[in-house]
Amino acid sequence: MIISSTHDYREAARRRLPRFLFNYIDGGAYDEHTLARNSLDLRQLALRQRVLKEVGEVDLSTTLLGQSLSMPLALSPVGLTGMYARRGEVQAARAAEKAGIPFTLSTVSVCPIEEVQQAVTRPIWFQLYVLKDRGFMKNVLDRAWAAGVRTLVFTVDMPVPGARYRDRHSGMSGPNAALRRYLQAVTHPRWAWDVGLLGRPHDLGNVSAYLKKKTGLEDYVGWLGANFDPGIGWHDLQWIRDSWQGSMLLKGILDPEDAREAVRFGADGIVVSNHGGRQLDGVLSTARALPEIASAVKGDLALLVDSGVRSGLDVVRLLALGADTVMLGRAFIYALAAEGQAGVENVLSLFAREMQVAMTLTGARRIAEISADSLVRAGVEGQ
Ligand code: GLV
Repeated sequence: MIISSTHDYREAARRRLPRFLFNYIDGGAYDEHTLARNSLDLRQLALRQRVLKEVGEVDLSTTLLGQSLSMPLALSPVGLTGMYARRGEVQAARAAEKAGIPFTLSTVSVCPIEEVQQAVTRPIWFQLYVLKDRGFMKNVLDRAWAAGVRTLVFTVDMPVPGARYRDRHSGMSGPNAALRRYLQAVTHPRWAWDVGLLGRPHDLGNVSAYLKKKTGLEDYVGWLGANFDPGIGWHDLQWIRDSWQGSMLLKGILDPEDAREAVRFGADGIVVSNHGGRQLDGVLSTARALPEIASAVKGDLALLVDSGVRSGLDVVRLLALGADTVMLGRAFIYALAAEGQAGVENVLSLFAREMQVAMTLTGARRIAEISADSLVRAGVEGQ
């Protein structure tokens, strides 16, 4: 099939992956209302076309947390990335490094921290959840630091996993899940050979290294539910803030009051996120949440955002709403599933080209020149 955008990569991923995997990445929580609004609200933001502005060469480069980025993008942490392509975390990290942007490794990755960090020279970012087993948290933080990680992305919007109804239908969880997954795997031979067979071991690499035994993926969703800690509060994070010597971003902020709290806590940055619509359905899309958060804390810490981003135009829209950098989840996973590292490299170059077009036609030569004036009016139409 001809691939010219993230939408094509989504279709290619749908064809290639067993149904449980495609639906796990593609789906959201409950009615998937927030999942849909994330993209819809972004697309409804009208870019303000300006012409004859002598823009010339567009410069996409930026700095974030003292790091140079070739463009204001980073790859989001995605659990089980290594099930979407053979040793998928390594392939995606290599693509990010080639493109000059950060890759974030999920706690619940297939490949362990060391395997991924050793495959690249640029320090990766590492994502951590609040887990009941604080020993595990301490262990992975120590290992991440020893491997060279200096940026921690701490997820705060998953004290419990959201209700992902699609997963029960598709075999990720629910009745006879293992049998259904097996049948789906054998009817997707390209995936079965490339990932199912050659991509082993299939386990939660970081957890296995800690427990010193293989953690299978049979009950991945059950594992998340059993290990997350719903009792967590700001004071529980203090020991991490005190012991982690690198940068610490809090991911999953959707309210200006929490954003201010993050500043008081001493976070180096926040990721405005509703977890790609995978946690609490019915919350604000990030395009709608971001402007108020930006007016509350912009300049006090690094302001990142994710959820619903499908093109370079969306990136420019979010920068215009106040973000410093934008994170991509599904957009890169679809490409990874379809074409591995080359797919991620390609999707990142598509984003770069799309940003260049949007910047040229809104009259911005540099990232810092993107502002509320790049939109016809700040805020989402039809609000
Ligand atoms: C994990 O963070 C997920 O969204 O499934």
